[in-house]
This record gives sequence, C-alpha cells and structure tokens, in this order.
Amino acid sequence: MKVVVVGAGYVGLVTAACLAESGNRVVGVDNDPARVALLQAGGIPIYEPGLEEMVGRNLSAGRLLFTTSMSLALEDAEVVFIAVGTPPREDGSADLQHVLAVARDIGEHTTGFKVVVNKSTVPVGTAAQVLGVIRERLALRGPTGAQVAVVSNPEFLKEGAAIDDFMRPDRIVVGVEPGVVGERARQVMARLYVPFNRHHDRTVWMDVPSAELTKYASNAMLATRISFMNEVALLADQLGADVDSVRRGMGLDPRIGHGFLYAGTGYGGSCFPKDTRALVHTAGQHGCRMQVVAAVERVNAAQKHTLVDMVLRAFGPDLRGVRLAVWGLAFKPNTNDMREAPSRHIVVELYRLGATLVLHDPVATSEAQAALADDLGIPWSELHRLQWATTPMEALEGAHALLIVTEWKCFHNPDFAAMVERLRYPLVLDGRNLYDPDTLQELGVAYHGIGRRNALGVQALASGGLRAQVGQRRQMGAGVVV
Ligand SMILES: NC(=O)c1ccc[n+]([C@@H]2O[C@H](COP(=O)([O-])OP(=O)(O)OC[C@H]3O[C@@H](n4cnc5c(N)ncnc54)[C@H](O)[C@@H]3O)[C@@H](O)[C@H]2O)c1
Repeated sequence: MKVVVVGAGYVGLVTAACLAESGNRVVGVDNDPARVALLQAGGIPIYEPGLEEMVGRNLSAGRLLFTTSMSLALEDAEVVFIAVGTPPREDGSADLQHVLAVARDIGEHTTGFKVVVNKSTVPVGTAAQVLGVIRERLALRGPTGAQVAVVSNPEFLKEGAAIDDFMRPDRIVVGVEPGVVGERARQVMARLYVPFNRHHDRTVWMDVPSAELTKYASNAMLATRISFMNEVALLADQLGADVDSVRRGMGLDPRIGHGFLYAGTGYGGSCFPKDTRALVHTAGQHGCRMQVVAAVERVNAAQKHTLVDMVLRAFGPDLRGVRLAVWGLAFKPNTNDMREAPSRHIVVELYRLGATLVLHDPVATSEAQAALADDLGIPWSELHRLQWATTPMEALEGAHALLIVTEWKCFHNPDFAAMVERLRYPLVLDGRNLYDPDTLQELGVAYHGIGRRNALGVQALASGGLRAQVGQRRQMGAGVVV
C-alpha cells in the first residue's frame, strides 16, 4: 500500500519506519525543511533505540522517503496519517492548530479516495473537525471527485521502546464512522494492519468518539497508578514502611499487576501531563468533573518538589556553596525527550536557591541544556553554576550529594566504592528508588529514596544537619566550588 505519514517526530517517524518495514511504500512529510533534509541524508532528529537503523534500511530499499511537499506525497496514496504535535494550551486544552493545518493541506491537494487517520492524540470531536476542514477546502476547489474518510487510530507506543510497541502492539484501536464510507475505511485499515495481527487479531474496532476517548482514558489510568504510588510512598516514609516491598506485595495480585506502580519524582514527558490536563478540560466543557484525574495532576505537581524538599531538609534553605550531582535529565530512560521532564523543575528550583549543579545524562545533553536555559531565561553559556559532566562518576567529584532523577540502565549498578570516594558527603537522594538502602548503609552511604531509606539517610535529612558540613568547608577554605 502507499501510505503518507505527516509529522516526522517521535510518533510519525516510528509509524513511517515500521509501516515501510512491513512492505508498504511510505512517504514521510514534515514542514520543517531542516528535519526533512537530515532524514533524507540518513540521519534522525530524535533518539529512539533501533530507529536510525530501521529508517536507513528502508530508505536504501526505496520503501521510505521524506519530503516537505504534501502535494507530491499524496499522489496515489491510500492512507494519510496525521501524527503532528498537539501541545497543551494555557487552559489545559489540546492545541489543534497543527492537526487542522494538515487537514487544510490535505483538502487542498487530495484526489481520489483517501483514508485520513488521526494518530495524534486529540480530543473527542476532532475527527469530525478534520473532516469538516478537508471538505471546506475541497468545496473551494470545485468538483474533483475526491472523497475522504477520517478514522481515529490513537497511538500507544512508549518512547524508548517505540519500535517494539509498534511492531508488536498490545492492541490496535481504530474508530470508524458508520455507513458505506466508514466501512470502506475499515477495510483499508484492516489490510494495512494485517502484518501486526498475524498471531491473533489485536484490533479493537469502535466508533470514532470512543477511540478518541480510549487514548485519554488509558493515559489517565497510567498516570493515576503513578500518583497513587507516590502518595503511598509519602505515607510509607511517615510509617517507616518500604514502598518497594509494598509495590512487590501489591503487584503479584493479578487484578493489580506490576506495571506503573513505581514511586518516583513524578511523571513527565510529552503525553501524561498534557493528556490528563486535556481530559479534565474536555470533561469541564461537557459539565463533568474528572475528580480523580484532577487529583492525580495535583499529586504529580507536588511530587516534582520531593527531591528539592529533601535537599532543603539536609542543607537548609540557603544552598549557596552546596554542590549537587544530578544523574539523568530526560523525562525517562532511552529517550532524549525533555518535554515536561521532572528534572527541569528540580534543577531550576535548586539553581534558584543558590546551589551549584553538575549534571549528567547519557543522551539528552543538548536537549537538556536548551530546555534548562529556556526555563531559566539565561543562555547556557552564562549558567556558571550549571555544569555538565561527561560521565556519571565525573559529576560526583566534590559533590555534597547525588540526586538520581532518571533511571537510565547505566545508573543501576555503579561502583559504589568509587562513588563514596568522589562524593564530599556520601548522601544519595534517589528519585527512582534504584538502590537497596541496606547495601548503601553498609558502605556508609546515607540513602533516601521515595518511600525507602536507610537510617543514615533519615539522619542526614534531619533538621538541615549537613549545612554545617558546607559551612565548615567554607571557613576552612576547602575549595567549595560555587
Ligand atoms: N511522543 C510519544 O510518546 C507519543 C505517544 C503516543 C501519542 N503521541 C501523540 O502523537 C502526536 C505527535 O507527538 P510527537 O511526540 O511525535 O510530536 P513531535 O513534536 O515529536 O513531532 C511532531 C512533528 O510534526 C511536524 N509538524 C508540525 N506541524 C506540521 C505540519 N503542518 N505539516 C507537517 N509537519 C508538521 C513537526 O515539525 C514535528 O516534526 C501528539 O499528539 C502526541 O500526543 C505521542
């Protein structure tokens, strides 16, 4: 089949590459000429494991190409995916300007019969809006014989595991309109997804509004599990319980399962924060209150301050002279995506309180530097108290504490002895609960995670006890780096 995918970002590029990999002729369209030039030259603009190889393989085989021209791309295509961004507006609603711009573009250039697929995450009613915009543009062109069906096919891939998620999906949700045109679209979509349904049919057919809502409800449920565990973790801290033991005890219940029960520094990324807000907004527009989801958001906003609170408990409110190592900036491992990453709140708050921060992320260097400079409104080159370390161990040199913000695999099993040697005070504040508190206690490391800690960690966080260490060093002229 000939397929067009509009938007060459995380979702569009993965969709284009995976559909080409399964034998289709795919044209990727993006309105960013630099992005298209990079893709045409065999590079990729994002970090996603395995994607560069897959794009390269399909470019060489001639099944995949990229262009900025919608009119060229649409020639004899059967299916057109819309996979452009739907960022949040100030009021929490989804900004549909990119989706509707693509709809206009399709309306201006389409011929014959096309199935237009909304893959972007969009509020209920958007498919109808897209169809309306396309028809408006078609009407301006006069008789063309062009016909369009709009279907909803939300995407459930996870950044960092996107190719596997697309190639071996748990489910494929497709919403089609009733009637003859909708049935024709259903047959086209069924044919397109045959390679992904070989073992058993994973497609869940439904009406369009239900498909649109399924995406938001799914993300809201996952976010709910995270915020729920974050609240359990705060309680565990007060009760002297260990949230990781609680998680394992809960997860073995098949009605609960293990997924998304990890306490941490809060969820971020390009989906959960904006999609939960958009769901609450949509509900409000229809006179409904999504009270659970609204609470999930509030808990998450507070959770992003947890590591900062720990630093303040350990060092007091004035962080001048305090040097902190930070491991992990991307919103989760295996991506360079910094959209709504909790690290941004943590680093910005600590910086504003006077701390010096030495940052390390295995992949998201330039994205993190750009995001932090933007948040602080100061060019990266002038942020002298934000320093970049090229290795995790280098970041620890002379730091008063280590903060773990993203659970990259390479942080899971570090050389703890080397860690202790480099840290000025061996305090590990673990926003991802990577380590065993007892093992670290045996090594003399004060450890405090989210709902798990050792006695040294509790002691270190008691009443700004470590401030004296920083002061002492200053008086002794011990070369505190500020
Ligand atoms: N990132 C994820 O993990 C994920 C997962 C599931 C669903 N989604 C949803 O998928 C959609 C896309 O997300 P993303 O993360 O891939 O976004 P992205 O920002 O990475 O990519 C969007 C791309 O669209 C291009 N674009 C914008 N307007 C265009 C236009 N008029 N014509 C052509 N190209 C245009 C941009 O240049 C960019 O390359 C969003 O609605 C998002 O909520 C994302």
